[in-house]
Amino acid sequence: MLTIAVSKGRIYEDALPLLEEAGITPIDDPKKSRKLILRTSRDDVQLVIIRATDVPTFVEYGAADMGIAGKDVLLEHGAENLYEPLDLGIAACRLMTATPVDAAELSGRIRVATKYVKTAQRYFADIGVQAEIIKLYGSMELAPLVGLADCIVDLVDTGNTLKANGLEARELITHITSRLVVNKAAMKMKHQAIQSLLDQFEITLAKR
Ligand code: ATP
Ligand code: PRP
Ligand code: MG
Repeated sequence: MLTIAVSKGRIYEDALPLLEEAGITPIDDPKKSRKLILRTSRDDVQLVIIRATDVPTFVEYGAADMGIAGKDVLLEHGAENLYEPLDLGIAACRLMTATPVDAAELSGRIRVATKYVKTAQRYFADIGVQAEIIKLYGSMELAPLVGLADCIVDLVDTGNTLKANGLEARELITHITSRLVVNKAAMKMKHQAIQSLLDQFEITLAKR
């Protein structure tokens, strides 16, 4: 059995066509079903539905053989205990800093609200800015509006969320897409099954 970890929402939606092309059609719909293990049209493949940030953990420990995770999540978690063989190009966005539209140039020691604590720490250290990082689990855009932080580090796609909250993107930290990650032991033990799936994904991606 090959177990693939995916998160509900945009990654699942974007991954579905790739899985379908590889002959993997989930039998239940995670939007309707409360099941966390989804059998598929292939007897030898199942999906586990987990939070996006938990995908590296499941794959690292071998609870899933492979998974699909955003590069943002992988940067924050650390991916040294995983293989990351394929950029799937899905769920594309940018990790950026953002501030209120009318904010002055940031200087001195700044406060930064984000759920990407390690990535933000690394980024501000690299550019030589002293930053106090405040960990949040969501609604980062609110932080500068209520005086919790000077700046946020968050994902930006259309920019609508920033705009709706009177913020604007400043610096690009990195471009983000979702990656296929594979458990290191599984890559050896289930090599043939995993490699043939990788090949199939690559064929599908090459046609895009
Ligand atoms: P949860 O909803 O469980 O708290 P989450 O917000 O991380 O988790 P998603 O919003 O589905 O879950 O995000 C999953 C991944 O999709 C992110 O890790 C990122 O790589 C990518 N992503 C997030 N927001 C966007 C966006 N607005 N546009 C494109 N890709 C995005
Ligand atoms: C994500 C991200 C931003 C927003 C950016 O939130 O955290 O807030 O998308 O996208 P935009 O630039 O197109 O507005 P999401 O929609 O995943 O909501 P969440 O807070 O539930 O994660
Ligand atoms: Mg989200």
